[in-house]
Amino acid sequence: MTTLITNIQQLVGTREKNELLYGAALAQLPCIENAFVLIEDGIIADYGAMYELAIKVPQLPKDIIDAEGQFVLPCWCDSHTHLVFAKSREEEFIDKLKGKTYAEIAAKGGGILNSAARLNETSEDALFLFAWKRLEEISKMGTGAVEIKSGYGLTLDSELKMLRVIKRLKEHSSLSIKATFLGAHTYPQAYKEDHQGYIDLIINEMLPVIAREKLADYIDVFCETGFFSPAEMETICKAGMRYGLKPKLHVNQLNSIAGIASAVDLHAVSVDHLETMTETDITQLRQASASQGMIGTLLPTAAFFLRMNYQPARTLIENNCAIALASDYNPGSSPSGNMNFVVALSCIQMKMLPEEAINAATINGAYAMELQEETGSITVGKKANLIFTRPMPSLAYLPYAFGDNLVDKVMIKGEFI
Ligand code: NIG
Ligand code: FE
Repeated sequence: MTTLITNIQQLVGTREKNELLYGAALAQLPCIENAFVLIEDGIIADYGAMYELAIKVPQLPKDIIDAEGQFVLPCWCDSHTHLVFAKSREEEFIDKLKGKTYAEIAAKGGGILNSAARLNETSEDALFLFAWKRLEEISKMGTGAVEIKSGYGLTLDSELKMLRVIKRLKEHSSLSIKATFLGAHTYPQAYKEDHQGYIDLIINEMLPVIAREKLADYIDVFCETGFFSPAEMETICKAGMRYGLKPKLHVNQLNSIAGIASAVDLHAVSVDHLETMTETDITQLRQASASQGMIGTLLPTAAFFLRMNYQPARTLIENNCAIALASDYNPGSSPSGNMNFVVALSCIQMKMLPEEAINAATINGAYAMELQEETGSITVGKKANLIFTRPMPSLAYLPYAFGDNLVDKVMIKGEFI
């Protein structure tokens, strides 16, 4: 099946080869005005300016889509979500409005433990349907690739249930999906005073089954005061790495406790959150970006929702740290998977330039899921995962007109969803 898209007002994110972007390069977003894209069997076969069409595509296919007045972008690559969950938590949202802190709610069995209790009593089929709906919603908003974590199970059965749901999502969805095992999201009540007991459960009971059933690509730990220490994170990650699971880690959300130093030693693919960064943390991330391609994934909607300081995006960019943007879609700290809002918020509150934000939410996000060979840019050989915008005056209008739905249509693997 061959499809030709013609008269695109601006084709955004055209790249001949892959490169993880950091520093000044993050602001470079190659675009072609008045462009075409040729798609063969769901894959980008060629692209260029309309004046090259007759030479590049001498024989026009039957299926031609006129994209006059539209911008076409690579789909968002959302590299950090928790979108498998049983129930929303707006009652905690109200508690927070009345003055309770995230930590106070968590300490009273709310937060992650609340989600775990709800998930425990929900069947795998029901969870699958809830998550499927969320996948459909985010794909309509332009997301074409997504990482999904477990971590609301916290028992052997429930963690496996979550990961099996993610596996089914992978099998049934046309989106590219990566699965992350986050058994170490918090200590369940029964193990509050027995950390080693829970770590043993993760290592001796959960990981062997996860490996046997190939249920995860990555391993994650919530490394934070009151949750998992850097030493505990290292123990858990090293066990996961023996099964081939690479670390992608929650660090530096509420405190800086040397999680980044441990992540560097563990050769983590990414360190995520980063609301609280010291100079040492930034130096370590810069060095690891250069030496091992480690990515700092910023989750500004979590900072927005929890009314925390935003991630220091400008400082990270000036210090040559590789950064990606993701939604953190979860019921507690970011009940939205809308990457358009993530991009807008990054510009509005973190002073990222539109080009920087779009790169961080596409090609760098793809790198943060090791999907850069198949998505994240308009590149020959990559999947035709494309966002078609409504008519707009410029690319900067996309983050500027935050809250407007500027996504007209979304194409995944060459087909409109
Ligand atoms: O990434 N920080 C840890 N985990 C989630 C929130 C968990 C929850 O409150 O359900 C996050 O923000
Ligand atoms: Fe998260």
